[in-house]
Amino acid sequence: MPEIAVLDHDAVLSAVSPAAAIAAVREGFLAHQRGEWAMPAKVYLDSPPFGDFRAMPARGGGLALLKWITSFPGNPARGLPTVTGVVCLSDARTGEPLMLLDARSVTALRTGAVAAVAADALAAPGAGTAGIVGCGLHGAWTARCLAAAGYAQGVCHDPDGAAAERLAAELGWRTGSRADALACDVVSCVTPGHEPVVEAGDLRPGMHLNMLGADGPGKAEATPAAVASCALFCDEWEQAVHGGELTGAVAAGLVRREQVTPLGDVLAGAAPGRPGPDAATLFDSTGLAIQDLAVAAAAHAAWREGRVGAQSVRL
Ligand SMILES: NC(=O)c1ccc[n+]([C@@H]2O[C@H](COP(=O)([O-])OP(=O)(O)OC[C@H]3O[C@@H](n4cnc5c(N)ncnc54)[C@H](O)[C@@H]3O)[C@@H](O)[C@H]2O)c1
Repeated sequence: MPEIAVLDHDAVLSAVSPAAAIAAVREGFLAHQRGEWAMPAKVYLDSPPFGDFRAMPARGGGLALLKWITSFPGNPARGLPTVTGVVCLSDARTGEPLMLLDARSVTALRTGAVAAVAADALAAPGAGTAGIVGCGLHGAWTARCLAAAGYAQGVCHDPDGAAAERLAAELGWRTGSRADALACDVVSCVTPGHEPVVEAGDLRPGMHLNMLGADGPGKAEATPAAVASCALFCDEWEQAVHGGELTGAVAAGLVRREQVTPLGDVLAGAAPGRPGPDAATLFDSTGLAIQDLAVAAAAHAAWREGRVGAQSVRL
């Protein structure tokens, strides 16, 4: 059995910059939209009462990927991370495993990257300020990716003031209230999704919302009325309707499938994006395996080209 390269958390982050992740994720959406990349539905495996495992497969660009990742909400109380896992990248022609990657860093990069891709496609012309509601792990990577995409000014909001301050200091942004963050041109919500942070009264003409925190059943960051008042976009309809920001509004009969445009169609020019300068647009991100594949493939390329070192393992 040949040796398999292994990229740990820090190696993934040094292999793929936020700017490279944004470009890769954008290309991944386009390849999937063209039918070149395949992505079966994600599989949930409950582990009651602790949490669940998720298996996320995708194939494209001569590679096949499986991300095996967890959500164990009680873990922090035991000194363990909520989300852990591993990505296996294989050769799609021979089936051989090529690389194992830390799933936490791949997930953080691809989640932040899609916020920048969606903002680029959907925000109003001239948008220049970014608000972050929820400055934890994925909020921080969302902010880093938006900063890499050119958002030089931003407002970080979090009830954990230290988290907001750390992120604002890192990026040269400022901290502020929820209202301050919601006043920005592009607002990214990255909270645990236990309570709404966006209500219909918070919507302003021309704003763009990235809703990233609601990535599973029972989570929501906006009220159904707020969702229904926006021009709607999603990463993937089936995931969005079963465990995303759109779920509540669809269940309440306020939103129908025809009203929601997949981001890939907008990027490919196959569907219109923002309806006009005064609309409030909302992108529901549930997190796709094609995003993981995009980032893992970029990390693999960086290793092959000698831009990052790897450990190795013989199975
Ligand atoms: N869409 C995706 O692809 C994707 C990917 C990964 C994680 N997620 C989801 O994103 C969410 C955040 O994940 P994380 O790993 O960053 O969690 P985290 O615990 O690191 O961060 C969450 C942050 O939100 C803050 N917060 C809580 N309530 C808030 C409120 N009302 N207003 C503002 N901030 C508030 C917390 O203080 C914390 O700093 C989770 O629900 C997770 O499942 C989505």
